[in-house]
Amino acid sequence: MNENPFKFGTIVDEPYFTDRIHEIEQVKSIIGSQNHLTIISPRRFGKSSLIMKVANQTDRPLIAIDMQLITSTSDFAAQILKRIYRIYPFERVRQLVQNFRIIPTITLNPVTSQVEVAFLPDSSQVPLLEDVLNLMEKLSAEKKKLLVIFDEFQEARRIHPDLLRQLRAIMQYHKLINYIFLGSQESLIKEIFMKKKSPFYHFGMIIQLKKIPEADFFDFLVSRLKPVNKNASDLAQQIISFTGCHPYYTQQLAFVVWDKCYRKSFNENPVTEAAGDLISMHDMDYERWWMNLNKTDKKLLIGLSLSNKTPLSEAFYRKYDLGASSTVFSSIKRLMENGYIIKVDTKYEIDDPFFGQWLRLRREA
Ligand SMILES: Nc1ncnc2c1ncn2[C@@H]1O[C@H](COP(=O)(O)OP(=O)(O)OP(=O)(O)O)[C@@H](O)[C@H]1O
Ligand SMILES: [Mg+2]
Repeated sequence: MNENPFKFGTIVDEPYFTDRIHEIEQVKSIIGSQNHLTIISPRRFGKSSLIMKVANQTDRPLIAIDMQLITSTSDFAAQILKRIYRIYPFERVRQLVQNFRIIPTITLNPVTSQVEVAFLPDSSQVPLLEDVLNLMEKLSAEKKKLLVIFDEFQEARRIHPDLLRQLRAIMQYHKLINYIFLGSQESLIKEIFMKKKSPFYHFGMIIQLKKIPEADFFDFLVSRLKPVNKNASDLAQQIISFTGCHPYYTQQLAFVVWDKCYRKSFNENPVTEAAGDLISMHDMDYERWWMNLNKTDKKLLIGLSLSNKTPLSEAFYRKYDLGASSTVFSSIKRLMENGYIIKVDTKYEIDDPFFGQWLRLRREA
């Protein structure tokens, strides 16, 4: 074996994919029914990989939109229509688009041979959304129901304050589409699907994706490290204790460890040395993150990097000089929204274990 068996950063499937057996069954069963699905997790836990794995096992057409890249409601409608053109026959789509109340400009990009779609930015929103979303329902078929994925769906609120309400008003009538919403800003996405007054309250089934179970990740690591190191179990254990089974960081660290073992380019401990490499590689980013944090957030992160106690305890406030509980609450909220910390079951932890180690090293220096 001479190709690194670990992969991080993009969507993974076999042979880089492990576990999620129960989740795969859940997703299959939901999209095989009349229901819609929401997958929630912190960033890089494997939402996209999970949904794509299941989607690829079907031969159903798929439209995926990353809401982070959408600038307005008309842009949203245009991006969906562009993808409709990609998967359904051009002539059929063209004829149906002729009945739209607001006619888009359609051009063929000569370089990519892809259809480009634009609506006038001040087009009136509701007919635009209705025409485009209802077109998906018209084109979809009972035997090959369309799958529509909205990634980072919490962004809908930023795009337009009325967008959620408008979307739900249209989508609720669709019978030939399964909508799949992904979200990584947990508090925001939960407000959309779990708050009674939200238009999307109980719109579909919610799956909260967790880290990958330790036993499974351990076997995954051992089997891939074995060919390059005789102490594979030891290495796997060390990797897992460093990353806490975070899917992305575990694969990232394992990638560098494998490389070091393969090239025999380590002195004593490949795991510690690999982590050291990754920390110095990101030193500039961490420095920048740190400079942009306020005092309370810094104290809270230092506390989390050094202690196993919950930041909501008296002992924690006192030890790390945090002041009132309300200050701690708002700091936690802010740090979660910005992705610095995540909540795992009931515990708060620093999302990036290399950043945690960077902090500890800085404190000791
Ligand atoms: N089932 C899995 N088995 C092994 N590694 C995984 C698995 N799922 C995810 N990963 C690791 O996590 C990384 C991120 O996965 P993915 O992009 O699917 O997550 P995401 O939750 O969609 O992330 P984002 O929040 O950035 O959209 C992958 O590149 C891979 O390294
Ligand atoms: Mg994703």
